[in-house]
Parts: sequence; C-alpha cells; structure tokens
Amino acid sequence: MTFLRVAFVQGRPRFGRTEANLDHGLALARTAQAELVVLPELWSTGYVFSSHEEVASLAEDARRGATATRLADAARRERRHYIAGFAEVARGRFYNSAMLVGPRGVRAVYRKLHLFEREREWFSAGDLPLAVNRVGPARVGMLICFDWRFPEAARVLALLGADLIAHPSNLVFPNAQEAMRVRALENRVFTVTANRTGIERRPGDTVTFTGRSQIVDPDGRVVVRAGKAEQVAHAVHIDLARSRHKRLTAATPLFTNRRPEHYGVLVRRS
Ligand code: ACM
Repeated sequence: MTFLRVAFVQGRPRFGRTEANLDHGLALARTAQAELVVLPELWSTGYVFSSHEEVASLAEDARRGATATRLADAARRERRHYIAGFAEVARGRFYNSAMLVGPRGVRAVYRKLHLFEREREWFSAGDLPLAVNRVGPARVGMLICFDWRFPEAARVLALLGADLIAHPSNLVFPNAQEAMRVRALENRVFTVTANRTGIERRPGDTVTFTGRSQIVDPDGRVVVRAGKAEQVAHAVHIDLARSRHKRLTAATPLFTNRRPEHYGVLVRRS
C-alpha cells in the first residue's frame, strides 16, 4: 500500500487567541478526509509578535502545551496525524516550530532553520537536525515557510527518503508557491504547503499573507490550490510510488547522477 490521503488547512488565526485558533483549525480540518492534515506556521499564536513578553507568554512546551494537547486529542479521536506550526519554549529558548502529532501523541518537532526578518528578534534559529518520520506508509519531512528559499533543506529531506514535505507557512513573497513547485520537481517529492490568509495588524508591524495553499506532485504539478483569501481545507489522494521513482528517464537516475564531490562549497560557512 503506497497511498496516502493528505490535506492542508488554510485559515486566518487571530493573534494571541490560542484556544480559538485551535478550535478554528480543527473545525476546518474535520471537513477534510485525510490521514495527515497540515496546518500553517505559528497557527496557535498568530505571526506578528511585538515584544519578548508576548513571545514568552504565548510560547508552549512541545509535549504539554495547548497545541500538543488539543492536536493529540483530535488525532486520537480521528485516528490520524496532524502537523501544525506553534511557538515553542524549551530550556529558556524560543523557537518557531512545527509538531507532528499522531494518535499516541507528539511524534516529532521541527524548529525552523531559516528565520525571516523580525522572527530573528523573537526566536532562536532551529537547532535540531532535518528528519523524516513515518506516517502510515509515507515518509514525511517538515520545513517551515521561509525554508523554501533554501533548496538545500528540501534536498536533505529528499536524500533522507522523504516522500512528502509538509510545509506549514505564513508566506509573504508572491513567488513562494511557484518556487515550491521547483522544490517538488527537483527532488521528486510531494509538497504540502499550508499557508495562512489575511492581514495581521499589530503594534509596530502589519503583514499581509498570500494564501494559495497547495499540494504539488513530484512532477511539479499543482494538484490542488486554494484561493488567496478563502478559509478552507483540501484533501488529495497521493501515490507514494511516484515520489519513490527517482528516475527521470530509464537511463537517468536523479540522485545517483549527483556529483557531491563538486558541491563542497555548499557546506562551508559564507
Ligand atoms: C515566513 O517565513 N513566515 C515569511
């Protein structure tokens, strides 16, 4: 069995309303029949922090916080997996993180490696290795939003065997969705970008998000895409055999054609 039903949720969280945001996300998720549901970046809190006190008061423990508790409860009742973005506190540091939650609780946490703009004021950069986890028959990796701009991250997940990259997002650049098609194509993986919508106006900053959440196949084709402003969940059935077929033609393998001995500069600090 190499099929999986996967969904994204696209919605509009309200800053600081963790419980209401979780209610909203889980209600949208219930409209999608899928074994894995992906929600946007920083879903529980909203995006535009305005002080360190705000970050400290809204960040959660990855196992005992509201996001973990509510998602684990939903995952157990619905017998499926969730991935969602949240603000994490661990050992006195704050991270822009995503958690993978299954019927038996939190399975994995990913901490965003590439922070964007003012995120650098609020969060520490991720310090956990890129990793792939099983969800049913699928091997799933996680990236968060601006990680799209660093093709190395998606490539690492693909080399670790990911069939699918879950990509909780609060995208602001208009070309990110198209770029994610390239991440899917160049790695022959499925990508699931769960983006938020709306404008967040907070003291000191206003940010407009681009919606257009999407699921892309290993040929870079958009299988489903939401509109810019709608609040919606979409599910599709994906065949994992397609992402495991890493040949471009019979005589042209993708990964074994790589020449890593010429790529050394990639792992040097700039
Ligand atoms: C972003 O990384 N949230 C733009």
